Amino acid sequence: MGSITIINGPNLNLLGKREPEIYGSTSFEEALLKWQKLYQGTEIHYQQSNIEGELVNYIQEAGFEGTGIVLNAGAYTHTSVAIGDAVAAISRPVIEVHISNVYAREEFRHKSFISPHASGIIIGMGLNGYKLAIDHLLHR
Ligand code: DQA
Repeated sequence: MGSITIINGPNLNLLGKREPEIYGSTSFEEALLKWQKLYQGTEIHYQQSNIEGELVNYIQEAGFEGTGIVLNAGAYTHTSVAIGDAVAAISRPVIEVHISNVYAREEFRHKSFISPHASGIIIGMGLNGYKLAIDHLLHR
């Protein structure tokens, strides 16, 4: 029985409503329910915050037990030394996910403080990226 924590950063609570041409029209809750049904033997926990320090707390809380973390830190990916440090500090693997292809967007999105400490990165595959990350953590 695995246990995975998905952590989403700022503005990702608006998925489904936010710039649907970039992020799609499915809400995160809808997709989460689907994955929870699909991976019935796995506990899939979900945390979201628009606040940087809260994301650090969630990473620390999930970082020393369970199978691993799927992290989309949103815009903090490109700015947060603290979130990068939190990912470096924990013992469980972190898969960094971005819904959009950040390398096809503005240059400020090309820098990630998380990538050097992530065990893998999935970019530009829409919400399916989270599913790929869960799958990888369960079967690696
Ligand atoms: C994002 C990409 C970030 O640049 C952006 O700030 C987000 C979402 C993505 O999932 O594509 O909020 O992390």
